[in-house]
Amino acid sequence: MGSILPSSRALAQAGVAYLAQKQGPVRVLEAGAGTGSFTREIIPLLEPGDSLDVVEINPDLMAYLKQQFKREPGSQTEPGLKINFINDDIRNIDPKTYHYIIFSLPLTNFPPKMVQEILDLMIDRLEPGGVFSYVNYIFVRRLKYLFSGSAVKTEMRTNQGIIKSFADQYQVKRKSVLRNVPPTWVYYWQKPLSNEQLSMSNEQ
Ligand SMILES: C[S@@+](CC[C@H](N)C(=O)[O-])C[C@H]1O[C@@H](n2cnc3c(N)ncnc32)[C@H](O)[C@@H]1O
Repeated sequence: MGSILPSSRALAQAGVAYLAQKQGPVRVLEAGAGTGSFTREIIPLLEPGDSLDVVEINPDLMAYLKQQFKREPGSQTEPGLKINFINDDIRNIDPKTYHYIIFSLPLTNFPPKMVQEILDLMIDRLEPGGVFSYVNYIFVRRLKYLFSGSAVKTEMRTNQGIIKSFADQYQVKRKSVLRNVPPTWVYYWQKPLSNEQLSMSNEQ
């Protein structure tokens, strides 16, 4: 269970809050684009020299998304800005790193092994200093927990433990977005700079 409705504009804006402060050319990954609520907020923030990989596993949603972005006037891209629409599982993406990852996969629905695998991959693909924003539906998870049997409850608790271990290591901020159905948390995780980058930034 993720969300039945596309994300609201308020949620999509919260998802791109760090990207909105970008400086210089960036590579951006959107994981789980659905009908493009976040994509619509991401594209206007990008400039020539930036690139965006939009990943969605569902072929029908991907076809819809491509059609929409051909048609919508506000989503026409500037020359020099590279956008790749990728219809695949996020676990199969090419080995490259990103400055920003905007992520809205329904992690708590996945088996724990897959949650660990996907989050390990996302952190691995983040540039040092890069930001991963993750959307987590507040009440949906609680409701699902309440009405599930003990095996699902155990799986959900294990998943929360895995997500918490990443949050303990990387979380720099979280924000609740009430103007969304359902209300949602957005978590921001940042990969630390390497020692070399830290000493360079101290010298400047
Ligand atoms: C909760 S929806 C969010 C959609 C959209 N970003 C929004 O906020 O309205 C999650 C999306 O992730 C996609 N998805 C689920 N598992 C995926 C995977 N392993 N790789 C890529 N996309 C996936 C689903 O098909 C779905 O469109």
